[in-house]
Amino acid sequence: MNKRNVDLMGDWQRSCRCGEPGEGDVGGELTLMGWTQSVRDHGGLLFIDLRDRSGMVQVVLNPEVTPEAHDKAKRVRSEDVLAVRGTLVHRSDETVNPNIPTGAVELMARELRVLNPSRVPPFPVDDEVEPTETSRFRYRYLDLRRPRGLRPLEIRHRMLSTIRNHLNDLSFMEVETPVLTKSTPEGARDYLVPSRMHPGKFYALPQSPQLFKQILMVGGVDRYFQIVRCFRDEDLRMDRQPEFTQLDIEMSFVQPEDIFAMVEGMMQRVFREVRGVELETPFCRLSWEEAMGRYGTDKPDLRFGLELVELSDTFRDSKVAIFTRALAAGGIVKGLRAPGAGDLSRKELDDLTELVGRYGAKGLAWIKVTDSDWQSPLTKFLSEAEKDALRDLTGVQSGDVIFMLADDFDIVNEGLANLRLEMGRRLGLVQEGVQAFTWVLDFPLVEWRKAEGRFTAVHHPFTAPREEDLPLLESDPARVKSRAYDLVLNGMELGGGSIRIHSPELQRQVLSLLDVNPDTVDDQFGFLLEALDLGAPPHGGIAFGVDRLAMLLSDSPAIRDVIAFPKSQRAVCMLTEAPTAVDVRQLAELQIRTLAGD
Ligand code: AMO
Repeated sequence: MNKRNVDLMGDWQRSCRCGEPGEGDVGGELTLMGWTQSVRDHGGLLFIDLRDRSGMVQVVLNPEVTPEAHDKAKRVRSEDVLAVRGTLVHRSDETVNPNIPTGAVELMARELRVLNPSRVPPFPVDDEVEPTETSRFRYRYLDLRRPRGLRPLEIRHRMLSTIRNHLNDLSFMEVETPVLTKSTPEGARDYLVPSRMHPGKFYALPQSPQLFKQILMVGGVDRYFQIVRCFRDEDLRMDRQPEFTQLDIEMSFVQPEDIFAMVEGMMQRVFREVRGVELETPFCRLSWEEAMGRYGTDKPDLRFGLELVELSDTFRDSKVAIFTRALAAGGIVKGLRAPGAGDLSRKELDDLTELVGRYGAKGLAWIKVTDSDWQSPLTKFLSEAEKDALRDLTGVQSGDVIFMLADDFDIVNEGLANLRLEMGRRLGLVQEGVQAFTWVLDFPLVEWRKAEGRFTAVHHPFTAPREEDLPLLESDPARVKSRAYDLVLNGMELGGGSIRIHSPELQRQVLSLLDVNPDTVDDQFGFLLEALDLGAPPHGGIAFGVDRLAMLLSDSPAIRDVIAFPKSQRAVCMLTEAPTAVDVRQLAELQIRTLAGD
């Protein structure tokens, strides 16, 4: 490749950024620096669009006035880094560009320096052509030079400054907690870091700062927050990354109501300052039971109706064998009315069956209701009483479809919840531009894991049971409700938290219910139990997924858009290609031998 000439920057100092010169600067001498967006030749005059984060300015080179600079500009290519010095002038009326803030002016260049020529970039650095995902993140620096690449990070930055200001105003204190620490159970696998000083021992990277923030309450910090990186080795999705950021909050002497009010005020300010949107408060509240009953999920998208209907009692003595069989096995039957979906083709119905199949459903029952009849493979088994009940419970009308699933609780709910989302989209029911917040409350404290033969915490083991349910802890733990709450926005879980256990005895009791080995309780959680025993105040808090909130505020389709250097679906850093093999000497120092790749 031809090595192009490079100029030194010398003592040139930038006067302002490219997007800043305005009519007030006309007549002034300016030195501007930035990247070359484009070079155009108009009848001998050369026009360079010079860009930086603040915007773009037009530079003009006239061969008759500055032949040397003009000559150099002829060799300038896209993405070359330039410095230009000249006089700011008005553009002629017919060349004014009302679409950009600098559109009324241009820089008449006198001198041009090519500070760093660029190789031909792997994709055009503009918003017109969308590069592939792989190139976008491999060359993330080029992507970030595009307004579309940078905008989500700008929105994230504005969101975080607003949050910091808000929490400062409320006397919260930001405290940093360790990154090299001990495992805190949040339900995912830990990332481990070997210790050189203690061969064979490992730190865990925090899944969340949960126990540290509780202990800060014991320390009298009273109102804590932290914008903190958390690490979870779990399967990735569009809204999940192995390292992500939480807005972590904890408060002493509080009730859930105090936390709701604080969070609602903060969200109002964030949406007002970042999006110019006024949120209505208080947010909607649903009990977990209601959310599961009406939407089949604990993170319902409330931008549309399409509620599920409980049909177990309707079909208890039915001739529809798939229903009675599921009910006899302890399962449930639920349905969903899709208004005006009567023209779904056989192929579309098969696709929807395939969709619920992904969540374990063995089939999807459907009935197309018309003025004259009920079309369905089930019709001949349905009694008139069952049809009447379906009419009453679903409100079905001619032209609609009723979908039904019969199976165990989780399969029916997950299947129908996802079918509901799909039908909401297909029928155009999702109200765009609406921010449908809801709190979900009164979760069960624990759930029975059949495969493991034990109870696990629905949130985490430090969540307080409802006071009125304490007597059930021993007799019927599955019926105990917790003092946990999640905040859901448009079907995405934004955050979750709870009032915590502050009594060491109750904490021991819950840990033993969760089958934590009594011999290792003190090894694992001794520091917490001891702190609880030394004057822990009642306390509670919440943590939000900062990346998820930024995603929603910037209308980004994927979480990686709001992270400067995200990981791929396979947890690989797309820029550095980490994780990579390490030198054997490094492993020897840590006294580690690997089984993989030998
Ligand atoms: P939880 O596990 O619910 O609670 O996490 C809080 C919020 O963090 C976000 N989040 C994630 N975001 C991106 N990628 C991930 N892999 C990921 N995992 C979680 C979600 C979630 O709602 N210590 C408790 C909070 C508390 O009780 O105060 C906790 O971590 O938006």
